[in-house]
Amino acid sequence: MKAPRHVTIIMDGNGRWARQKGKDRLFGHAEGVESIRSVLRAAHDAGVEYLSFYAFSEENWGRPEGEVAGLMELMLRSLKSEEAELKANKVHLRILGNLGRLSPELQEAVKVMDENTAPGAEMTMILFISYSGRWDIAQAARRMAEEGGESIEPYLVTAGVPDPDLLIRTSGEQRVSNYLLWQLAYTEFVFTPVLWPDFRREQFFEALEEYSSRERRFGKVK
Ligand code: IPE
Ligand code: IPE
Ligand code: MG
Repeated sequence: MKAPRHVTIIMDGNGRWARQKGKDRLFGHAEGVESIRSVLRAAHDAGVEYLSFYAFSEENWGRPEGEVAGLMELMLRSLKSEEAELKANKVHLRILGNLGRLSPELQEAVKVMDENTAPGAEMTMILFISYSGRWDIAQAARRMAEEGGESIEPYLVTAGVPDPDLLIRTSGEQRVSNYLLWQLAYTEFVFTPVLWPDFRREQFFEALEEYSSRERRFGKVK
């Protein structure tokens, strides 16, 4: 089975997972970090080159203040604690999105992480934070016009990153929620009812299996 080169995941269902257990939504987000760790290891073993995650959308800024603050705190803490492990596994961690909206401390952590994990990396992990597909296309179009560029691709925040081959969305929702609108043009979608904190290695391999049964045609005739 040939692994998809770029797998992207809309991690959804943390809040529902926590509620089912009678806990605070933030408990679900914290457990979701464990799923990221597990899936990263699985993707590494499967030979996936790019693994990306929708971690926080532009629209998510509209959630209650306590949840937003808790998520930002969790991201900062996780970035700082994972550096050694990422370097040991030769994983370059990049964070893409409208990063100007993040706190100066988080912006600094993002920059440091990107620089420190880049050398010698064999795999790229991307976290999309404060990201929305429409925002990305709009900022790219604006910069392209300013510079007189001729194609939009090099101006998207994903410039140089291959388009996702496979998109997985957990929690049973079957929508794109303003994610990579441009980049998903020919991506295969796999939806699973599993809530993100329960999505681990086994579920990831099931999704790869499903992907391998798809026939991609890119508008052509096979
Ligand atoms: C996904 O889980 C994580 C983020 C969007 C940050 P949710 O927080 O959306 O969980 P549900 O969808 O409410 O269960
Ligand atoms: C999409 O999940 C955003 C992330 C996973 C970061 P949401 O929970 O925000 O999406 P909707 O509101 O159900 O569409
Ligand atoms: Mg959700």
